[in-house]
Amino acid sequence: MSAGGNGKRHLSQESARTADRCVMTVFGASGDLTKRKLLPAIYNLGRNNLLPREFAILGFAKDVFTEEDFRKTIRAELKEYSGSTGSQSDEALCDWIAEHTYYLCGDFANPADYALLKQRIDELTERHHTGGNVFYYMATLPQFFPEIIRQLGAVGLTHEEKDTWRRVIVEKPFGSDVESARALNREIGEVLDEKQIYRIDHYLGKETVQNILVFRFANGIFEPVWNRRYIDHVQITVAESLGVERRGGYYEKAGCLRDMIPNHILQLVTLTAMEPPTSFEADAVRDEQAKVLNAMQPILPEDVLTRAVRGQYGEGDVAGEHVPGYRAEQFVSPKSNTESFVALKLQVDNWRWADVPFYVRTGKRMPKRLTEIAIQFRRAPFMLFRDTTVQHLAPNMLVMHIQPDEGISLQFGAKIPGAHVQVGSVTMDFNYADYFGSEPSTGYERLLYDCMIGDATLFQRADMVEAGWRVVEPVLDVWKALPPRAFPNYAAGSWGPKDADELLHRDGRAWREE
Ligand code: BG6
Repeated sequence: MSAGGNGKRHLSQESARTADRCVMTVFGASGDLTKRKLLPAIYNLGRNNLLPREFAILGFAKDVFTEEDFRKTIRAELKEYSGSTGSQSDEALCDWIAEHTYYLCGDFANPADYALLKQRIDELTERHHTGGNVFYYMATLPQFFPEIIRQLGAVGLTHEEKDTWRRVIVEKPFGSDVESARALNREIGEVLDEKQIYRIDHYLGKETVQNILVFRFANGIFEPVWNRRYIDHVQITVAESLGVERRGGYYEKAGCLRDMIPNHILQLVTLTAMEPPTSFEADAVRDEQAKVLNAMQPILPEDVLTRAVRGQYGEGDVAGEHVPGYRAEQFVSPKSNTESFVALKLQVDNWRWADVPFYVRTGKRMPKRLTEIAIQFRRAPFMLFRDTTVQHLAPNMLVMHIQPDEGISLQFGAKIPGAHVQVGSVTMDFNYADYFGSEPSTGYERLLYDCMIGDATLFQRADMVEAGWRVVEPVLDVWKALPPRAFPNYAAGSWGPKDADELLHRDGRAWREE
């Protein structure tokens, strides 16, 4: 698809209002998430004039820093980030953020430290005129979530006065199975109202993920064919070329299934499969997503062998570099049976999707970073072509490219010029950057902003998280009972174990070739 003219189309954008004034309190502020995502996201919000002037960040962590040192680190990191995005670094903004940042060294389990925290928050509220609004970001290991929330409640830090709000953003993983997710919901529900809880899934912060709904529901031509009558199956791939990096400790316990499926992958499934909501109100959208999750039949234990595939990478070559196998990674047991790859055949049992499989796969150390949703339509009848030289007709495929190339493409058959009738597969491409340019983004901007304005549409409700775990739990149980026998079973730099191909071949289908 041509972008026309100079390759960019400038569309008028309704400018969003600045977020509510507030103090952002980050638990685990000295960790990677703050440095790599949260502060750069705050910077990007500032660049787009979406940050309120009455704003402060308070970091809380156990590492001993002076406030001055913490600020210095932040200033340096922000400058590095803004320099690396290709846009001109806004030094004044980096300085402004650093000047509005504070740090408190404390122990998540110590009540006395929460008394100090309360004092600091009161002080910052006064100094920065933030009006008493506070949101707390749980950027810690998940085992601390309930403790921190309990302690916040005990000193009154979650209490909302008239015209002020207190909100909590909870990072994933939210529990490790149905029971633990339910327990966590119960525990934090003793302190917070559901409307104060923002369970984050950063996939929903991605523009291309949000665009799935716009694409489906703002266009009249796709929805009529978006069902079992026209769609043969759906393939969702979330491939990463990276290995576990320095997160071996966490990953050994979680594994690929827990890390990616009940959250990111099921988000993609629900947005692809849901019915049109009656509005963009948070609960209208989330109700429809929840219905999809509830319509997804948990894979029965006896079907796990044929509908679920696990893999672990051995050494191999990724992008021309030789890399070690999973078992040789830092903080990973040399005998580890943790999976770094999963493929599943999921079914959404409702009138729209009955008998349309959703094949999903995700893994680390695959040949490249790639996230996409491919909708494969049913083939056209061949009858008309049977007396021609055409051997077969390729099905139409609509691909939503989530990352790193962002766009949408439609594959269809066209006549190859010449005296014979021959059909070739051609593609019509829409590329985000061509039309809208590309803005540096971490994916957290929209989510932080939405929390600050009280819009929970892109956050998970308690019932959705539990429903997600319900879908995958039988697989977790069977895999636990039957340890894998052939790990490692795929080489780093390949598309996963042979069994993942078999999963589709059994149904007469194949993964889309990259
Ligand atoms: C995180 C997982 O939630 O998502 C990581 O814990 C994974 O293991 C990451 O690498 C992928 O996110 P993205 O945005 O890079 O696709």
